Amino acid sequence: MKDFQSQVCVCAASANLASAKSCAEMGLKMAKKEETLFQNRMTRHMEELRWLYMELYDNESMFAELCQNLYEFAKARPAALKKRDLEREADPEWYKSNALLGMMMYIDNFAGNLNGLREKLPYIQQAGVNLLHLMPFLDTVPGRSDGGYAVADFRKVRSDLGSMDDLEKLAAVCHKKGINLCMDFVMNHTSQDHEWAKRARQGEGEYMSRYFFFADPSIPAEYEKTVPQVFPTTAPGNFTWLDDCKHYVMTSFYPYQWDLNYRNPRVFNEMMYHYLFLANKGMDMIRIDAVPYIWKELGTDCRNRPQVHTIVRMMRMIGEIVCPNVILLGEVVMEPVKVVPYFGSIDKPECHLLYNVTTMCTTWHTVATRDTRLLRRQLDAVNALPKEYVFLNYLRCHDDIGWGLDYEWLHQNFGTDEILHKRYLNDYFQGFAGNSTSRGELYNDDIASGDARLCGTTASLCGIEKARFEQDHEAMERAVRFDLALHAMMFMQTGIPMLYSGDELAQVNDCSYKEEPQKADDSRYLHRGRLRWEQAEHIHDLETPEGKIFCGLHALTTLRGSSPAFGTGADVWTLDTGDNGLLAVGRYVKGQKVIGVFNFTEWEKTVTFPHDSGEFTDMLTGETCLLQDLPIPAYGFRYLEQKDGRG
Ligand code: GLC
Repeated sequence: MKDFQSQVCVCAASANLASAKSCAEMGLKMAKKEETLFQNRMTRHMEELRWLYMELYDNESMFAELCQNLYEFAKARPAALKKRDLEREADPEWYKSNALLGMMMYIDNFAGNLNGLREKLPYIQQAGVNLLHLMPFLDTVPGRSDGGYAVADFRKVRSDLGSMDDLEKLAAVCHKKGINLCMDFVMNHTSQDHEWAKRARQGEGEYMSRYFFFADPSIPAEYEKTVPQVFPTTAPGNFTWLDDCKHYVMTSFYPYQWDLNYRNPRVFNEMMYHYLFLANKGMDMIRIDAVPYIWKELGTDCRNRPQVHTIVRMMRMIGEIVCPNVILLGEVVMEPVKVVPYFGSIDKPECHLLYNVTTMCTTWHTVATRDTRLLRRQLDAVNALPKEYVFLNYLRCHDDIGWGLDYEWLHQNFGTDEILHKRYLNDYFQGFAGNSTSRGELYNDDIASGDARLCGTTASLCGIEKARFEQDHEAMERAVRFDLALHAMMFMQTGIPMLYSGDELAQVNDCSYKEEPQKADDSRYLHRGRLRWEQAEHIHDLETPEGKIFCGLHALTTLRGSSPAFGTGADVWTLDTGDNGLLAVGRYVKGQKVIGVFNFTEWEKTVTFPHDSGEFTDMLTGETCLLQDLPIPAYGFRYLEQKDGRG
């Protein structure tokens, strides 16, 4: 096996660099054991990493620089994280544990700042949460922030939220308490307030080449022919004219979010250094934001280009070399055929985790139609994937719900028209159609395409807001039951369930964003409200909606965490219920079978599973039952368990 010095020499010699000596000197300085570790990790990936890098950039000296920096970041990694790396290397499937429960949150909404959050960790633990996704908290300029997704400095925490030291402190305390930390890495673009952007704007060629600058409108016009719009109403088009420097700059998202040009190896290298810098602050998971967009190619839709996969694969290897503790969560909000490739292959993996976005929006489609057939089909498709692929499951997140359903299938089977169906869904969730109790708002209502997306908290979409407003006790009971049933359905899926902060308290929409000029035109702020701590006082009071939801979720979390059938190794299938309003999902590992039944309708139903004989136990009440004429409450669910059952 090559030692570290010869390893460095390989990269340096191939780069024809005079730095081989200094590289070797650094190698000697590193403690022997750590040096060997790094060397082994590097050896494992060197050949492939080099090959991919050359394929993309064909630049030996930049590759040598990258390798040298990997070494520097590995060396600089704090001792506690190095220990964590070893533990996780020994247990590389830790993120597949059914004992994980995530929660995503805005630090300021939850606790003001990072130190406030640290103090509130006992609440997080009470909720059974052991994975915290902190929404973007790096430096950004108010009014040009996109909720923090326009980063002005990747190495600085937004000053009102604290400092890098506070972040490190938080990570250390979280780790002691068994909580994992996740943060966003916004890699598609920087803010126009980032130093690179400022220098590009001043005409510095080196920095202009890190973005897409065009003096002439003809190339932007060519791009516009094939590139769809992300925010057709709030930020139309894919380019922004900069009058001061007389150039167009590519801005797929908001005009102040400038797309980075990953054809430039300097961009890739520097962004990798930022990624490793942040990983070294104690992250366990990095969410790679908007990753399908990072490679642009004229004449294409500039999404999911093959080079994106090369970059993600390199990130995966770079992480495994420097910070093997860290896992990658890819944000790929696309249809399933485009999502799955981001897992890579079994021997050349890319992301560890991906969002189960189609199941999420299909769940809401099922809420509005009370027809579980599409959802069943979607679950069958996910369950047919290799068990190595792990999804992050969710009902709501900080973004809108886009109606990315399988319209081809809906059309073939029911003659569904896509535009009309989207209109129905949007009407339904605004409370206008189909006996709806929802209270949502549209997002990016595109009159040209007839498309619109939807915002609102789980509780508001389930009818809790309306029932509270109308002080309708019965409606509240039903809405709470439905909210829990949807969570139970989500918990039934393989992978990590991720709660959206506030959902554990049945928190409803917050309309105050409309009073803030910087937020008023972005209805996603409807579900990005401040956590109502006054509601948290009722978490043990089962007379209140918040108490019912908090305790209900806690019970589900405990069951999920302690039942092997919820693990990623389980066989999962859907069952015929004979009723389109009911969904049934089975899970099995040796020794335990669990069947979940979910009623999406306002009527109590009974269900019989003729192939599942013998006694089952209702996991929540402990009652024994047969799966024959089994009652399922309106908008309710049941988890049924059979010990020693067969799959
Ligand atoms: C991701 C985020 C979204 C943001 C966008 C641009 O999709 O989830 O909130 O607007 O990236 O960074």
